[in-house]
Amino acid sequence: MKHLRLGVNIDHVATIRNARGGKHPEPLRAAQMAVAAGADGITAHLREDRRHISDQDIEHLVADIDKPLNLEMAATEEMLTIALRHKPHAVCLVPEKREERTTEGGLDVAAGHNHLAPFVRELAAAKIRVSLFVEANPVQLAVAKALGAHVVELHTGAYCEAHAAGDFAERDKILARLKAGAKEAARLGLEVHAGHGLTFETVGPVAAIPELIELNIGHFLVGEAIFVGLDASIRRMRQLMDEARGKAGTAFA
Ligand code: PXP
Repeated sequence: MKHLRLGVNIDHVATIRNARGGKHPEPLRAAQMAVAAGADGITAHLREDRRHISDQDIEHLVADIDKPLNLEMAATEEMLTIALRHKPHAVCLVPEKREERTTEGGLDVAAGHNHLAPFVRELAAAKIRVSLFVEANPVQLAVAKALGAHVVELHTGAYCEAHAAGDFAERDKILARLKAGAKEAARLGLEVHAGHGLTFETVGPVAAIPELIELNIGHFLVGEAIFVGLDASIRRMRQLMDEARGKAGTAFA
C-alpha cells in the first residue's frame, strides 16, 4: 500500500501559548519538532477569530518549514487574500462558526456550491492544491469533484466520537461509510485525506483504508505530548499508521 502521509496540526500549541498571551510555546518550534519526528506536512487552521494560530504563525510556517503547509480556513474574502499572499502548498476549506469549539461537521459543498466555486477557482489558479473537508457522502463527493477540488478530506469526527462513547455499532457504521466514501472519491479522481479527532485507539482502521493518502491529526497529539513529549507522541502515531498499512518495523517504530 502507498505511504500514508501524516500532517501534524499544531493549532493547540498556539492555544496553550495564547492562554498567557506571550510567545511560549511556539507553534513554529512544534512544527520543526513534528518534521523531525516524521511528519510529512504541517497543518494549521487560521480561524476568523484567531483563537489559536495567528497571521504571524502562518508567516513563520511558510518561511521556515520545508515541508508542505496545509492551511485550513473558511471560505471568506479575508482568508482568500491571506492564502493568495502566502501561497501555502494546500488550502483545506472548512466550515466555521464562531461559537463552535472545533470544526463540527463537513462543508456542505452541495448547498454551498455557488459560494465555494470562485474560492476553488482562485486558489487553484494560484497553483494551491484545494481540499474540501466533507462528510463521506456520495453527493458531497460528486459536487467536490464538479467544483474542481484536487482533494477531499473526509471528516472522521463522528467515527471518533462514537468510539469514545462506546457506541461501537455506530462507530463501525460510520467507518463503513468512510471506506465507501474513500473508494468513491478515488474513483472520481480525487486525492483522499481524512482527519478530525483521531487518536492512538481510532487511527488504525482509518489508516488501513487503502485509498487514503494523508491523515491530518492535531489535538490528540498535542494533548499526548503533555505526558510523553511531542516527539514520542508523533512517532507512536506514525508507527500505528504504518502498522495499519502493513509496514510494521519502519524507521519510526
Ligand atoms: N482536519 C480538519 C479539516 C480539521 O479542521 C481539523 C481540526 O482543525 C483536523 C483535521 C484535526 O483534528 P484534530 O485536531 O481533532 O486531530
